[in-house]
Amino acid sequence: MTLPEGLDNASFPKAFQVLDNLPGWTFTDSTGTDAEVTYQVEDPQDWADRVRADWRRSVSGILAAAADLRDARDRLPHGEWGRMFRNHRDPVVRPVPFTDRTGRLLVAVAENRFLADRNHGSDLPPSWRTLAVLAKLPPEYLEEVHRAGQVHPEMERSDAERLVHEYLEAQPRTDPMPVLRAAPSDLVTDRLTLLLGDFRERLADLPDGSVDLVLSDPPYPREDLGLWSDLAELAARVLADTGILVAWTGRADLPEVLRRLGEHLEYRWCYAIRYAESQARMWTWPVRQAWKPLLVYQKPGGVRPHCERHPDFLEAGRRDKSLYKWQQSPEPAGQLIGLLTRPDAVVLDPMLGVGTFGVPALELGRRFIGVELDPGRFQTSVDRLTNPDRPDRQAERATING
Ligand SMILES: C[S@@+](CC[C@H](N)C(=O)[O-])C[C@H]1O[C@@H](n2cnc3c(N)ncnc32)[C@H](O)[C@@H]1O
Repeated sequence: MTLPEGLDNASFPKAFQVLDNLPGWTFTDSTGTDAEVTYQVEDPQDWADRVRADWRRSVSGILAAAADLRDARDRLPHGEWGRMFRNHRDPVVRPVPFTDRTGRLLVAVAENRFLADRNHGSDLPPSWRTLAVLAKLPPEYLEEVHRAGQVHPEMERSDAERLVHEYLEAQPRTDPMPVLRAAPSDLVTDRLTLLLGDFRERLADLPDGSVDLVLSDPPYPREDLGLWSDLAELAARVLADTGILVAWTGRADLPEVLRRLGEHLEYRWCYAIRYAESQARMWTWPVRQAWKPLLVYQKPGGVRPHCERHPDFLEAGRRDKSLYKWQQSPEPAGQLIGLLTRPDAVVLDPMLGVGTFGVPALELGRRFIGVELDPGRFQTSVDRLTNPDRPDRQAERATING
C-alpha cells in the first residue's frame, strides 16, 4: 500500500485500517489530511477482496458486501463485474466465495430501500438467503410488516417467503392474460392461448415474469437434449418470482438433463409418478420401469410455494395413449396445479403434444398457454382443449376433480 507523504496508519479512519491486510489497495490523498483521504478501487480483484472481507461477518457485513457488489457493477468497465465470481471462465485470483447468481440476488438486496437503510440493520435476519427473499417485497410493505414485528433477526427464509405470498395474495389479480403475437393458425381466447410452431420463436415475446407454472414433457431422444437448455432459459425468464417449472423426464440421460436445467435454474425437488411395471426393455439398465421422475426447479432466488405439505409420490391416473404414443395422463399434472398454483394462475406448456397438461389447467380454473411444433398434434390439442364435452374430457374431469 502506498501511503501519501506525511501520513501513517494511525491517521487513517479505523474502517480503512481493516483494508490494510488486503492486497491491491492504493490510497490517494489530495490535501495531506486524513479526513480527505480517498481510496480507489481499480479492478475486479480489488472489489472481490473487499466483498470477501465483508461477507458473512454479520447483517452489516452482508449488506456491505451487497452494496459493494452494486457499486462494482455500476463502476467496473463492461464485462469485468463477472470476473469477481468463482464461476467465471476467467476469474480474478481470489474470487468472492459465491457465484454471480448470488451476486445478482445481493445487488437486489442493496437496491431495496428498506433493507439498505442502516437503521433497520439490527432488526434484520443475518442470512443472505432470507434477505434475498425479503428484497422481493416493496420497501413500503417491508416498513409495514416491520412495524408489525414481522421482520426480526430470528426470522427464517420460510417466514420471509410467507410474507411474499401474503403480499401477493393481498394484491388484486388484474394482470391480463399475457399477449403474444398470433398467427392465423393460433387459437387465442382470454383464458387459453395455443400457438403452432417452435416455442423458442413463438414465446420470444412472452413477457418476463408472466408465468406461474411451466409444466413440460420434452421429447426424450438424445438428439433432443438441447431442448432442455432452451426450456431452462425460457423458464428463467418468464417465471414469476414465485413461479415453478415441473418437467417430466426419462432416466437414461438424467445427468445431462439436470446439468442443462441447472445452467439457468435452481433445483428444488423430484416427484415420482408410480406406474404399473413396464414391459419395455431398457438398454441402459436391466429393470422393469415402474416410476417416472418429475423435476422441480425455480429461477435463481425463486420463492418456494406456500401450500400444504404433500407426499412426493403422485398417482399415475388413467393410462391413455389413444391420441399420441407419448401422451401422458393428466392426473399428476392436475395434482400439482391444484397444490402449487392459485385460481387464475398462468400455466404454460411449451411442448404441448396433444394438450394433456392444458386439460387439468382449464378444469381447475387456471389460464393456459401451449405451443406445439407438429401441426397434427397441435390440431388435436385445439380440439381437445376447446371441447369440454368430448367423452375423453368428461372422463378426465371426473378423475381430476376428485
Ligand atoms: C413428449 S411429447 C409431449 C407429450 C405431451 N405431454 C402429451 O401428453 O401429449 C413432446 C412434444 O414436444 C413437441 N416439440 C418438440 N420440440 C418442440 C419445439 N421446439 N417447440 C414446440 N414443440 C416441440 C413434439 O412435437 C412433441 O409433441
